[in-house]
Amino acid sequence: MSMRKPLISGNWKMNLNHFEALKLVQELSYQVSREDVDAVDVSLHPPFTDIRTVQTVIESDRLPFLLGAQHCYHENSGAFTGEVSPAMLAKLNVAYVIVGHSERREIFGETDEVVNLKVKAILANDMTPILCCGETLDEREAGGAEAKVAGQIVAGLAGVSSDQVAAMVIAYEPIWAIGTGKTASAEDAQAMCAHVRATVALACGDAAADAVRIQYGGSVKPSNAAELMSQPDIDGALVGGACLEADSFGRIIQYRLAE
Ligand code: 13P
Repeated sequence: MSMRKPLISGNWKMNLNHFEALKLVQELSYQVSREDVDAVDVSLHPPFTDIRTVQTVIESDRLPFLLGAQHCYHENSGAFTGEVSPAMLAKLNVAYVIVGHSERREIFGETDEVVNLKVKAILANDMTPILCCGETLDEREAGGAEAKVAGQIVAGLAGVSSDQVAAMVIAYEPIWAIGTGKTASAEDAQAMCAHVRATVALACGDAAADAVRIQYGGSVKPSNAAELMSQPDIDGALVGGACLEADSFGRIIQYRLAE
């Protein structure tokens, strides 16, 4: 078994302007210690308009946070009004880019094919994709959760080398748990993350499956982070609502100190 360093990521979604972003990152830096980031990697995913501000404070104050984005287009430049390219993000020292979040898939119609193009474009620009997957409540109740998630992963990783997959992050986010306060039980989250890993093993080989980091997302809070993180196939968390305040996100980052 390889040692997978946990990754706790804060997906700010469409929240906080660049002044509020600066305040949150500074507050978070008072809360999070070097020992914390020795134990876990922390990535911050602000809206595009905040990224330069967050980059500047991280670099000038040498804060132990990795910079992330929530989305990008798959071309590096051109006539794509309103889009932001992976090359532009790489130039801001963005390390991680979330791809295929269920909100992008459901609200903006991103297909598995588009998600795959983005995964490849992010990798081509030397950044790490956080590939999201997850089922709806209807799909779960109909017994289709495993097939849905496996399909999203196989399609999302098509044409990506095993070595690249090994260095990637996959986030399992059941749609019924996002923003609802209803977290998957630790057992259900573990079972689905183990299924994600087994799917990667089939598609990309055992070495990639052993190394890829798998996050759970969906109503992660300070009160449930430790139990989720103690599961063998859960290597991190993708946090929405609870990452918007330094106190709650800080306590999730410090999950290992709970109890
Ligand atoms: P919540 O933590 O608000 O449920 O959001 C999860 C999520 O979608 C993170 O990407």
